[in-house]
Amino acid sequence: MRRALSAVVAFSLGATAVAAQNVDIIKERQGHLKKIGDAVKPVGAMYKGEADFDLATVQAALKVIQEKAPLLPPLFPDDSKTGADTEALPIIWDEKADFEARYKKLADDAKAAETAITDADNFTDGWKQVVGNCSGCHKKFRKPKS
Ligand code: HEC
Repeated sequence: MRRALSAVVAFSLGATAVAAQNVDIIKERQGHLKKIGDAVKPVGAMYKGEADFDLATVQAALKVIQEKAPLLPPLFPDDSKTGADTEALPIIWDEKADFEARYKKLADDAKAAETAITDADNFTDGWKQVVGNCSGCHKKFRKPKS
């Protein structure tokens, strides 16, 4: 119903022949990704040696990743390719299986890291494994930062 209505509005505004896009779902996935980013940020500072190692903060970030990653694959439907300043690249929809598998791997690696990371000594290797998933996916599926 909402889709039908926004299509009519887009048409009456003389918008070009782009199908109405589901902006709500784009915002929803960006919200989850932002929460992941916020949780990961303080741990990134530890990784770079800019903050002291704190296991509780690392574990909390790993929990957020495990909670959010499985929510993401369904939030990239066909009608969410443009709008809301999305940084999603069209290749997502050409290589859906690869894209979705990366969220699964991210969650699995975060789970493994929960046990693997126990102190400052094994933190660096364990964390690198987890965040390699972020950069790997962003490189292929997210618009580069200008
Ligand atoms: C399977 C692919 C994939 C993985 C894995 C992934 N991301 Fe992303 N990320 C994306 C895509 C695609 C976008 C752009 C979403 C949009 O704008 O619609 C994005 C956007 C973001 C954003 C911006 C959100 C906003 O405010 O709009 C942050 C922050 C982010 N990712 C952090 C991370 C971190 C940290 C990790 C790893 C723990 C991670 N991502 C793992 C694909 C991924």
